[in-house]
Amino acid sequence: IQEPRMIIVEVVGAKKNVALVRLNRPEALNALCSQLMDELAVALLKLDMNTEIRVIVLTGNEKAFAAGADIKEMRELEFAQVFGGGYLANWSALSDVKKPVIAAVNGFALGGGSELALMCDIIYAGDTAQFGQPEVNVGTMPGAGGTQRWPRFTSKSFAMEVCLTGSRITAHEAKDAGLVNRVYPAADLVAETIKLAEKIAEKSPIIVQTIKESVNSAYETTLNQGLRMERRLFHSTFATNDRKEGMKAFSEKRTPEWTSS
Ligand code: CAA
Repeated sequence: IQEPRMIIVEVVGAKKNVALVRLNRPEALNALCSQLMDELAVALLKLDMNTEIRVIVLTGNEKAFAAGADIKEMRELEFAQVFGGGYLANWSALSDVKKPVIAAVNGFALGGGSELALMCDIIYAGDTAQFGQPEVNVGTMPGAGGTQRWPRFTSKSFAMEVCLTGSRITAHEAKDAGLVNRVYPAADLVAETIKLAEKIAEKSPIIVQTIKESVNSAYETTLNQGLRMERRLFHSTFATNDRKEGMKAFSEKRTPEWTSS
């Protein structure tokens, strides 16, 4: 198995239970070519199975989170190739991850780069971050969730403006629109995001993953179906040792010791 060349994976945090995945193709502003996305998919699958890792942080560098799918790679492609070859199919690896994935976005998050951030569970941004869907400027449209996730996470009107104009929005505008939770000075962003990851990593992994699944279902179902599913998942926590331990520890006024079982 070849070592990845376009991403860097590090284990971080005081308890070494957070994975920091850096997109690392700075010469192309982290444009998301097939090789980078293949490497990312393999790394995410491995991290999702690694029981030492509780939370994944995805970032780029200070100039760019990612400036989109690789336009130079796409330029000569024909319909039959992208349709037949399932172009971008490997991108769904990120939304298949069961552990929480937090995006730390500095610099450009454009096109597929913005869509990658939107696939994450939480977005923190640096104050110089810029989000946008400029595909319309190069004669195409968002193809990795932009037209579907922007309206769900902000509003239809906001999504239309972003996707139809291709104009960029700032980190603070993205926060006001509900896309980004917090904005930090660019230099502090990754450290602050790792702190958030460590806070989540303190919880029971099996319960954290169940909550993630339940929140995500809110975007897939009617309210009644979602509430029914949430109740079932809530009931299922009663089959875990961590639910027993959590409530016992509360009664005994001590910190719970999770076993993720
Ligand atoms: N694909 C391929 N190469 C890219 C790229 C991309 N999306 N974005 C930047 N690069 C390359 C540039 O071609 C340039 O390479 P060279 O030095 O070899 O010329 C290098 O990265 C640096 O970029 P710039 O010189 O353009 O840097 P800048 O600071 O002047 O501008 C920018 C930065 C505004 C982000 C500009 O690079 C830009 O507009 N990039 C394209 C953004 C875009 O349109 N993204 C959408 C892609 S389509 C898509 O993503 C489809 C989908 O939904 C999945």
